[in-house]
Amino acid sequence: VLMEKGNYRHFMEKEIHDQPEGCQRTIAAYVDTLTDQTTVQGVDFNAIDRIQIVACGTSWIAGMIGRYLIEQLADLPVDVEIASEFRYRSPALRPNALAIAMSQSGETADTLAAFRHCIEAGMKSAAIVNATESTIAREADVVWPIHCGPEIGVASTKAFTAQVSVMIALAIAAAKARGRIDEAEEKRLVHVLLEAPRLIAEAIGLEDALKEIAAEIAKAKDVLYLGRGPMSALALEGALKLKEISYIHAEGYAAGELKHGPIALVDEATPVIILAPYDSWFEKSASNMSEVMARGGQVVFITDPEGAKHAPAGAKVVVTAPASDPLISALVMSAPIQLLAYHVAVVKGADVDQPRNLAKSVTVE
Ligand code: G6P
Repeated sequence: VLMEKGNYRHFMEKEIHDQPEGCQRTIAAYVDTLTDQTTVQGVDFNAIDRIQIVACGTSWIAGMIGRYLIEQLADLPVDVEIASEFRYRSPALRPNALAIAMSQSGETADTLAAFRHCIEAGMKSAAIVNATESTIAREADVVWPIHCGPEIGVASTKAFTAQVSVMIALAIAAAKARGRIDEAEEKRLVHVLLEAPRLIAEAIGLEDALKEIAAEIAKAKDVLYLGRGPMSALALEGALKLKEISYIHAEGYAAGELKHGPIALVDEATPVIILAPYDSWFEKSASNMSEVMARGGQVVFITDPEGAKHAPAGAKVVVTAPASDPLISALVMSAPIQLLAYHVAVVKGADVDQPRNLAKSVTVE
């Protein structure tokens, strides 16, 4: 397939902008808009007692976001582990778990090996992949494609939001199957999920503001990303994107860990990006923001309209993403962190689509 960048400078930029449409396709595969019910097929969520997700890189982070949602909605324990760790330790495997391999390419060597361990232990297996003809897909009992179309940029963007979309549909489906939510609540949640593409598009509309912030961030040597709940996982993704393509050292942390280490790094030269929609974690994240500012840290506060209203004064910049239900806030907040990393890399003149030392698909150890 000949892939075209169209009017975009880089595939990554195009793929960021493709997300509303990509996400719409993903959601369409897992919900029925006539009945407002989820249509996740192939697994009996009452026959399993936990979920084991194995993955690498950005796919691992998508799994981490899934863990928050699945445990909260479906009351089903979820373990998410980096595949290269999982495959070389002796995890206490139980056959009653559902193993999920999360992999855009479906060919990542470590993910495949970890997945095979699970399958050999007798677990039911599901592959959440973009490449449905891949090795991981072939070895799974069930394949849940992410349907986002080919991803060319080495730094994953649209595959990530598609993976998270599948996680959300899965969380709703498991919750319904396990009797944790009723039909009315399922409908409500499906409606929330259906709103995601439009809200992602709105968040992409913040691009000009993010470009300005990127010009400042490009001067930094170190950047910290903080968040709580699903935003703690997205903080890891923000830091990963920035380091992958702009080569600026960045760390993502659960904001509650600030005082256990990263706060020692905070000074006037360290931008601290705090991801804090107005959810049940907001007050805690806002107080972390105050702690950072009290030490001279330059806060970029990425929030929503209510959060902007309630944020402590003194942030260097406040980025106001659209309001969303916590179910989909990781989807909506993804675009700002991707665009920020992208524009920092552009300012620095980096080779965005082919970052040094990285590969799109890691089929060897
Ligand atoms: C590589 C890519 C990342 C990706 C990771 C896992 O490191 O550069 O973007 O997240 O592999 O790849 P997978 O295909 O298994 O999702």
